[in-house]
Amino acid sequence: MTHHRSAWRNRWTFMLATAGSAIGLGNIWKLPYMIGVNGGSAFVLVFIGCIFFVGIPLMMTEILLGRRAQKNPLNGIETLAIEANASRHWKYLGGMGMITGLLILSFYSVIGGWVLSFIGAAASGNFVGMDGTQSTANFNQLLASPLTLLFWHTVFMIMTMGVVARGVNSGLEKANNILIPALFAILLILLGYSMSVGDMSASFRFMFSPDFSKITPVAVLSALGHAFFSLSLGMGSVMVYGSYLQRDVSIARATIYIALADTLLGLLIGLAIYALVFANQLAPNAGPGLIFQTLPIAFGQMPSGSLIATLFFTLVAFAAWTSAISLVEPTIAWVVENTEISRKVATTILGLIIWLIGISVVFSFNEWQNVTIIFGLNIFDTLDKLTSTILLPLGGLLIAIFAGYFMKNSHVQEELNLHQWSFKVWVLMNNVIAPIGIIGVFLYLFKIIQ
Ligand code: TRP
Repeated sequence: MTHHRSAWRNRWTFMLATAGSAIGLGNIWKLPYMIGVNGGSAFVLVFIGCIFFVGIPLMMTEILLGRRAQKNPLNGIETLAIEANASRHWKYLGGMGMITGLLILSFYSVIGGWVLSFIGAAASGNFVGMDGTQSTANFNQLLASPLTLLFWHTVFMIMTMGVVARGVNSGLEKANNILIPALFAILLILLGYSMSVGDMSASFRFMFSPDFSKITPVAVLSALGHAFFSLSLGMGSVMVYGSYLQRDVSIARATIYIALADTLLGLLIGLAIYALVFANQLAPNAGPGLIFQTLPIAFGQMPSGSLIATLFFTLVAFAAWTSAISLVEPTIAWVVENTEISRKVATTILGLIIWLIGISVVFSFNEWQNVTIIFGLNIFDTLDKLTSTILLPLGGLLIAIFAGYFMKNSHVQEELNLHQWSFKVWVLMNNVIAPIGIIGVFLYLFKIIQ
């Protein structure tokens, strides 16, 4: 059975789509609070290290696998395994990625829902004059109402699956082209404001003064996991986008631009947020509610704050939306390329499954707050930790090993098309440094568990 496969219109759309996948709640919601929970600068340093030594080489690897295979991750890896005379069982790596994407979206969508609800709150002027206590109470009130959370989770899922159902060209491409640049622009406004009313030097110290004594095994584990999460690596998102990519694009150059934009955006938001945290005597380790508790204070004091806040949360919602799409695209591509089931039907069924799992996440913030799954973690924490710190790095490790030790170097080089020495650098990073880093962190994890 042959299917017509769509392709990106040009290299710019690929870059924006992949940047759109990478830039999302991971940068705006997750990175800032993880920095606080994991001791500030220690975490930031390790995170940047993980982006450079693991994230960038593996992003190149995922794109090259996708572009060479020109298929969904599962069949794509199978095809490449056959080409490399390796076991076909490698295809299950694609299957693992699909499950990972489904699990991530089930909580991602709930947080996306928080953002949607904040658009309305901002537009109706709720943040005007808010102080720290009021802002925290406001957020806690949202968490305490499962019906509101469920409503916005449902809206977010419908938005996401609506785009996926329409397919790559008409759905995905258009969404990205304006949103990413607009997000950067509004971030600069926020940063400027935060600089004028916040404590930027405290924020800078908190995030960048190197203090290696604070580096703990948990911080390292979280930093590695978040490097994967932030760059959308380890489950096939980037691979499936790479599979729609034309031959003439430099994978290395595209990767470096995307990774730099993604990392820079996350760090700038972190700086803006911690300047507000320290100026308002808030706790840096507030956890997942951090941005929802701090940003309203800043917006509430700014001239035209309600307007800027509305714009900000709208752009964050868009960023989350374009990321969410990439979490399900590998699975949908697999169904469409293997069965007679239409894209629309496949999207609806998958959307329902994710929505149902998401309901348990909604309850984990209120009614089921104390229901724990493993290691005393509630449902949200379990899904988050399981995917970010285990499934994504494991997927990345296997992808690196497959490309590095099973595929022919000449085939890899055909896709990467690098100068001789830069190819050697990639080989060193993909075959040695990244795998050793990931395995080392896993060993750490086993030590913690024991
Ligand atoms: N990177 C996105 C963010 O930062 C989330 C995301 C999209 C993702 N696709 C992914 C995370 C694949 C891990 C794997 O918000």
